[in-house]
Amino acid sequence: MKLAKKSVLGIALSGLISMGAQAGSVEVLHYWTSGGEAKSASVLKNLLEKEGHQWEDFAVAGGGGESAMTVLKSRAVSGNPPSAAQIKGLDIQEWAELGFLTNLDKVAKKAKWDDLLPEVVSDVMKYEGHYVAVPVNVHRVNWLWANPEIFKKAGVEIPKTWSEFIQVADKIKAAGYTPLAHGGQAWQDATLFEAVALGEGGPEFYGKAFVQHDQATLTSQKMTDILATFKKLKSYIDSDSAGRDWNIATAMVINGKAAMQIMGDWAKGEFTAAGKKPGTDYVCVAAPGTADAFTFNIDSFAMFDVKGSDSKTAQADLARLIMEPSFQETFNLNKGSIPARLGMARDKFDSCAHTSMDDFVSTAGNGGLVPSMAHGMSTTSAVQGAIYDVVTNYFNSDSITAEQATEKLARAIRAAI
Ligand code: BGC
Repeated sequence: MKLAKKSVLGIALSGLISMGAQAGSVEVLHYWTSGGEAKSASVLKNLLEKEGHQWEDFAVAGGGGESAMTVLKSRAVSGNPPSAAQIKGLDIQEWAELGFLTNLDKVAKKAKWDDLLPEVVSDVMKYEGHYVAVPVNVHRVNWLWANPEIFKKAGVEIPKTWSEFIQVADKIKAAGYTPLAHGGQAWQDATLFEAVALGEGGPEFYGKAFVQHDQATLTSQKMTDILATFKKLKSYIDSDSAGRDWNIATAMVINGKAAMQIMGDWAKGEFTAAGKKPGTDYVCVAAPGTADAFTFNIDSFAMFDVKGSDSKTAQADLARLIMEPSFQETFNLNKGSIPARLGMARDKFDSCAHTSMDDFVSTAGNGGLVPSMAHGMSTTSAVQGAIYDVVTNYFNSDSITAEQATEKLARAIRAAI
């Protein structure tokens, strides 16, 4: 009987607590639907629920988030956007400029976000000097993931340049394996292309092409050479790649069907979810020719204007939780990325994450830190879309030469700016 009384009291108390804390719900739009991604998203859901709020999951499948952004636009146009959406890079500025986003300065000031974030991160989260988004991580995009067993069987070493990649891939092919795991989707083609551009062109060339959109760089012989190398990689991909999701490609490396994948470190989330350890089960190294560079891709949530004080409280709590160390640690251990905030303990992170943490700092000092074009960091979605179209058409067609692709790329970018 006593027990029953206690639990009645407990229920009443927790009711009071949540009333005091104004429990609300937050609808969260995201595109984290692979095994590793879903595990990561649930970290945030659990933390929010612990505070007494409700998480309304609004997951839209589709790597890179193109489908999620289409759905977001239609919801916003009909006057019913979610409270929080996984938006990043220059898209944040575009949404803020249209007047959709909420000012998060109060939460940011209280928790001292300005002191906790590197400027390269906080700049992206602000619109006209005010916080409108919160960063969850820093992904590095220029990685090569490899299956060491296949390398051993083929008698080859992990390639350090793109010309080595081609030599090694030929031997792996001859040994009966698929050299390159890849999914034939525009954003994956663009991810591979930007890795080749960075590896063969270097960070300065990369910046001129994908940040400044300098026409002389875009029409250069170097760009044609890069496009030619990129096209060669097609012959190392199996014939079933059309439409394949990125995580299925990662599974080919995990399961010993393919030797390598060029993909951001969300791929590590899949290795981790499969119980694999770096150094023994798989290898992570910078994509060929990019050891001194770091293509960054920061995931973040932008908060939309919502009505009702309970919804506003829940939304502000979500923003606060995202920046707290416990979320930043657990989420990033699952996601494969590194924390966005500075001064986090490193001990629970693996060797790939340590490399990423070190390289993030060192490349920030040597000019090698560049924003990812394929992942919405370097340019507007209009220019990014134009690049995607040219790159994917060229990669998947037999009738476009590297010279023609160079011209098309320069022209498409010029038209989309
Ligand atoms: C996002 C990652 C996501 C990946 C695959 C990237 O653009 O930044 O968070 O895991 O796409 O969907």
